[in-house]
Amino acid sequence: MNSLIQRQIAFNLSSSNAWDAFADHRSQVTSLLKHGSDLPRLCILGAGNCNDLDLMTLIQFHQDIHLVDIDMDALAQGVAKQNLADHAHIHLHGGIDLTGMIDQMSHWSPNSALTETDIAACIDASAHCLAPLPGPFEVVASTCLLSQLIKIVVDTIGENHPQFVEVIQAIRLGHLRLLMQLIVLGGLGVLITDVVSSDSYPPLASVPAQDLSQVLVQLVRQGNFFHGVNPAAIVNLFRQDPVLSQQVASLDPIGPWRWNFGPRHYAVIAVKIQKR
Ligand SMILES: C[S@@+](CC[C@H](N)C(=O)[O-])C[C@H]1O[C@@H](n2cnc3c(N)ncnc32)[C@H](O)[C@@H]1O
Repeated sequence: MNSLIQRQIAFNLSSSNAWDAFADHRSQVTSLLKHGSDLPRLCILGAGNCNDLDLMTLIQFHQDIHLVDIDMDALAQGVAKQNLADHAHIHLHGGIDLTGMIDQMSHWSPNSALTETDIAACIDASAHCLAPLPGPFEVVASTCLLSQLIKIVVDTIGENHPQFVEVIQAIRLGHLRLLMQLIVLGGLGVLITDVVSSDSYPPLASVPAQDLSQVLVQLVRQGNFFHGVNPAAIVNLFRQDPVLSQQVASLDPIGPWRWNFGPRHYAVIAVKIQKR
């Protein structure tokens, strides 16, 4: 197992007991994923500890739930904590790298010379995980995974690498294209992402809910947000990327809301995407 996967597992272990702290965030995420019987199969990318998913509620709205993550133990323990281990309609897909690049990226450093082929692979390699998943699905959600995928780039080549921006844009595009590829025609995508945390904006924890939107706009204007997750840039990408835009029927930006992670708070947004 490479060091990037080990780091992710350690990160998941550190928040495995955060069920209570996540209550408000879980309620926001769960309510975005509750849909009628016309959308029977739900797939969640980055489900991890499942502390942000009320699975007992979601299984009343969907016939089958597919949980995908690189960390199989987090999925198994998360489902067991909700007393749903061995549920016939909750399917765990652990050990799946949703970038398709994690082994390659584990060898990257600030001195790595990346070729055009490497950058193209950051977009295309995510499609490798289509084969092991029984998709497409009527609803596909990505739950605070995008920032983690981009963090891999921050932690390997680093912000000063000459191709840093190009690589994070490629990883982001690869993830959004994967999300859309996993959805049936006429289905629904829900991209949920943390945008900024109280580490770089300490007052975040105490911003009144009604002011959060305005505060986030200001933080984004000041450049105080995680690389690659500017909400406007994500919406624009869905509208302008030649591959994505063809598949999008409508986009519905949602939020922000606050996620109490325990040691820090995050501002989180979602984009609902209706696929053509
Ligand atoms: C911030 S967590 C999401 C919150 C999580 N659903 C919970 O309730 O704790 C991000 C998840 O993405 C997963 N992840 C990170 N990199 C991944 C990758 N390359 N492929 C698949 N999953 C990945 C992590 O293992 C983690 O479970």
